[in-house]
Amino acid sequence: MAFTSAAEIEAFERRLADAVRTGHAEDLDIIGYGEVTIAVKLATPHGDFACKRLVPFSSRDAAEHTAALIASYIAQLTDSGIDVVETETPILTRPEGHVLYCVQPLLRSGTLGPDFLRGKTAEEAAPHVRRIFEHIRDAVTPRLAPDGQLSNWVIDGNRLRYLDVGTPFLRNERGEDLFDFTEQTRALPAPVRVIVNRFLLHGILDNYHSVRGQAMDFLGNLIKEGLADIFPPLIPLANEVFALSPEITEKEVRAHYKSDAQTYAFIQSARRADRWVYRKLLRKPYPYLLPPPIDRFG
Ligand SMILES: Nc1ncnc2c1ncn2[C@@H]1O[C@H](COP(=O)(O)OP(=O)(O)OP(=O)(O)O)[C@@H](O)[C@H]1O
Ligand SMILES: [Mg+2]
Repeated sequence: MAFTSAAEIEAFERRLADAVRTGHAEDLDIIGYGEVTIAVKLATPHGDFACKRLVPFSSRDAAEHTAALIASYIAQLTDSGIDVVETETPILTRPEGHVLYCVQPLLRSGTLGPDFLRGKTAEEAAPHVRRIFEHIRDAVTPRLAPDGQLSNWVIDGNRLRYLDVGTPFLRNERGEDLFDFTEQTRALPAPVRVIVNRFLLHGILDNYHSVRGQAMDFLGNLIKEGLADIFPPLIPLANEVFALSPEITEKEVRAHYKSDAQTYAFIQSARRADRWVYRKLLRKPYPYLLPPPIDRFG
């Protein structure tokens, strides 16, 4: 049985569209902002769900193609040994395009990776981080990659699960991306979109398909999550599990994080400027919800 009925998800989408139109996100239970998507809670009589809305697609075909890619992504991650949170992908047809949602059961906040590790010492965190690293190591190939960041893992007792499937990192044997990332970068203002698509996207994506890139992202991201204290002692663990040679160093992780944070901070400030132009000059509602400014340097 589907997690949510068509009527429930339609009503939810209308509520979200209203919040976007009015810019009043307070009326929504936002549970997480990604760089592109937002995750919003949907309460129903038969349980609570996390609904993650991708940027609307320009055609029904593009949305259906993406839903099929997500299904294949989940199957391939599962084959590599990862326990993926059960996900449904309804598609709604709306004036602004074809909206694809990833719907999952809402997981308890204390089980989400960053919450789970908060307050733990590096020693206490290490066995959990080791399991995450092993899953990343076993999954990453030139054709497949999870987004290994801590915020995408759920730790519940002995069970370690992965939740971020809305961006399928899949490539064919020629190294071409199967997911059209440029559909998602449509959320960016035009000049920024051109720069990102042309100069940044391929490099950003290459990073996911290498265990070195995954290790750097995971460790650097701990700074953003306010877990900077525990990251230096975890570096030797990354070097060991990923068999990195040359070994990565704290200095390298900090430099990687800084350049990454600058890229995303630039993109987010461009989006806020774009929103200002829409609202104040064009007097049109800005069609996306933006995350609040993030303090990325912990
Ligand atoms: N099923 C869920 N239950 C509870 N919280 C969730 C669930 N799914 C996502 N979240 C919260 O929302 C955040 C963002 O979700 P997710 O990682 O799936 O997408 P994303 O990171 O926004 O995608 P991207 O950055 O690739 O656009 C998660 O890190 C988590 O904090
Ligand atoms: Mg994520």
